[in-house]
Amino acid sequence: MTLRITRLAFATFGSPDPAQLADYYASVIGLSAMTRADGGVHLASPSGETCVLVEAGEAPVCTGLGFETAPDVPLEDVARWLGAQGIASAVRTDPLPGIARMLRFTDFKGTRIDVFNTPPPAVPALAGAGIGPRKLGHVAFYVADIQQAVAFYRDILGFRVSDWMEDFFVFMRCGPDHHTCNFISSANRGMHHMAFELADWAHVKAACDGLSRAGLQMTWGPGRHGPGHNIFTYHRNPQNQIIELFTELDVMSDEASGAFDPRPWHRDAPQRPKVWRASEATNLWGDGPPPGHRS
Ligand SMILES: [Fe+2]
Repeated sequence: MTLRITRLAFATFGSPDPAQLADYYASVIGLSAMTRADGGVHLASPSGETCVLVEAGEAPVCTGLGFETAPDVPLEDVARWLGAQGIASAVRTDPLPGIARMLRFTDFKGTRIDVFNTPPPAVPALAGAGIGPRKLGHVAFYVADIQQAVAFYRDILGFRVSDWMEDFFVFMRCGPDHHTCNFISSANRGMHHMAFELADWAHVKAACDGLSRAGLQMTWGPGRHGPGHNIFTYHRNPQNQIIELFTELDVMSDEASGAFDPRPWHRDAPQRPKVWRASEATNLWGDGPPPGHRS
């Protein structure tokens, strides 16, 4: 058995100024905010799913990820299996609106992993200001040992490798989307970037105008990545974290096929998981990452 993750649901952030971060996610990204009694803030996508949690913390860091798992495996069975792998976990009750129980443990680098197997009811938010992404798409982390990252996310969480960029950047999927978690070999630690999915290219254009009106400059893009073929733009949020807005990410709708659904911009047919050269992979449209994007 592995733990069969099916979807990234949310990312949790500690912040010395939770109100500032929550205001950015609400007014610029267009998530709807609900403040808890303890000052933490839940932020939901326009479809009503909580996708960002902001909590008080000493530094602006990503402290955890929340995943939905296959519904047919009770959390107690998951906990027993994790225990047999030497991973301690604990069930939490009523942790989030609409989620009665979650199992919490930590991954190989100390990031909190919360899993639940009963999808919360989506409560569509009223249309509001801001970009209004479809969903939280993926989160990328710096790691010391990238093979350790692959082993944990494959063998414990049930992810598959979608693509490599040489031997230092891996893209892993838990469902049809090309990547949900990425890992970058680096002397740095923590999150590299978090990405929201937009509906289409027109939505990306509108988002760029929205960022500009909010006084936020793009730091890279628009461009099209090689691995995943997503159109991307990057900017930094008010706490200096890199945020990507993307569309047209590859999907593998038939896992048994071993290939991503064909797209006009693919250069391989079929487009299968592979190892990309960094020089061709970072941006099919032009410039590579600017100084400071990756270190
Ligand atoms: Fe990304």
